[in-house]
Amino acid sequence: MENVDKLEMNSSAADRRLSTLARHLAVTINNEGSSIFSSPTSAGDSAFANVARAPEDPILGVTVAYNKDPSPVKLNLGVGAYRTEEGKPLVLNVVRKAEQLLVNDRSRVKEYLPIVGLADFNKLSAKLILGADSPAIHGNLVTTVQCLSGTGSLRVGAEFLARHYRERTIYIPNPTWGNHTKVFTLAGLTVKTYRYYDPVTRGLNIQGLLEDLESAPTGAIVLLHACAHNPTGVDPTLQQWEQIRQMIRSKSLLPFFDSAYQGFASGSLDGDAQSVRMFVGDGGECFIAQSYAKNMGLYGERVGALSIVCRTADVASRVNSQLKLVIRPMYSNPPIHGASIVATILKDRNLYHEWTLELKAMADRIITMRKHLFDALGARGTPGDWSHIIKQIGMFTFTGLNRKQVTFMTKEYHIYMTSDGRISMAGLSSRTVPHLADAIHAAVTTVV
Ligand SMILES: Cc1ncc(COP(=O)(O)O)c(C=O)c1O
Repeated sequence: MENVDKLEMNSSAADRRLSTLARHLAVTINNEGSSIFSSPTSAGDSAFANVARAPEDPILGVTVAYNKDPSPVKLNLGVGAYRTEEGKPLVLNVVRKAEQLLVNDRSRVKEYLPIVGLADFNKLSAKLILGADSPAIHGNLVTTVQCLSGTGSLRVGAEFLARHYRERTIYIPNPTWGNHTKVFTLAGLTVKTYRYYDPVTRGLNIQGLLEDLESAPTGAIVLLHACAHNPTGVDPTLQQWEQIRQMIRSKSLLPFFDSAYQGFASGSLDGDAQSVRMFVGDGGECFIAQSYAKNMGLYGERVGALSIVCRTADVASRVNSQLKLVIRPMYSNPPIHGASIVATILKDRNLYHEWTLELKAMADRIITMRKHLFDALGARGTPGDWSHIIKQIGMFTFTGLNRKQVTFMTKEYHIYMTSDGRISMAGLSSRTVPHLADAIHAAVTTVV
């Protein structure tokens, strides 16, 4: 590890990336008990005989365990995917309509998209997050590239920053979505955390957050969840956002918004974009990763966008040229189908309106589930204050259940969730709420 550090001090940007990667792998190896550096065994038949089995992904692994459980009452609240009242995945009507239009259009072909994706999709995505009247868009200060959903957008943005930005430290909230650390580390950035959640109040630790940003090095990158913070469901108020904005700008920090839930938090696309618009409105620079996985239900289509708001149109155009160099060797160019669905919906007034209604219905159902669960725990007299269930925002509730209680609920009630006690409210229905409430009641009354 010491050698890795020495190497880093004397090396070029490319070497630095490699040493970061080596350090990440060293940590992974220590944690996961394998060594890719050990010499191949002559006894093994395979050149990969020394490859140890990696642990399941902490979030997607929950679904793997769920799938193996034969119980008829099993319930998967691990992964953040919307389910109907019947517990079924939902394809939005408006998406089916757009797909039909695309299929019927015989002029459509399956040629490659440009490296940066579908032009219409990019323009409309920037408009969706920044607002139709955004001066940044009208001044051509924004460059947008189509990427592979939210994750791909974060990764492309991080790769660009590792190559072209002077400060390589990114501050992410504690806690945050489990993939953030890996995405940014493997792109060559150094990940540090800022305080975010206060387990005592089950709310935002605004004081800790501001102190940590204040002591960050000038220019450091700051990852912000645009709305519906995952996993806590705790968002800053508009007033707190303003405090955060002032701190970020006064320290010349670089905001990088992760917008995975626009429309899911409040049911309003504009409402959920307010934090981003506040930052773009001050004329400063900013990165935004957008995902259409949740708000259009296009999970597996992998549709997203990275927008970079720059100070001048000339810088934006040069940044765009460099983004192409990042994307080309990674996946060449993005897939056409999902982006065409999104563009079809966003550019048609009627389809857009229909989408907002369906989106609102999803958001409302989640809010109703919060209320049902809160009431059900009240009816059972479950010890503790459960008001955070109705106060938290978005797809998830950070229940406050500990690891042992989570294990108990999985073992005894076949309820699956991440080990930090996060449950997906979108996976609940009126039928399954009582079962979950029984399980929580049993967990908190019998497991400490
Ligand atoms: C906070 C956050 N960011 C990004 C993503 C990326 O999702 P996707 O790559 O499916 O768009 C998710 C998905 O759960 C998320 O919760």
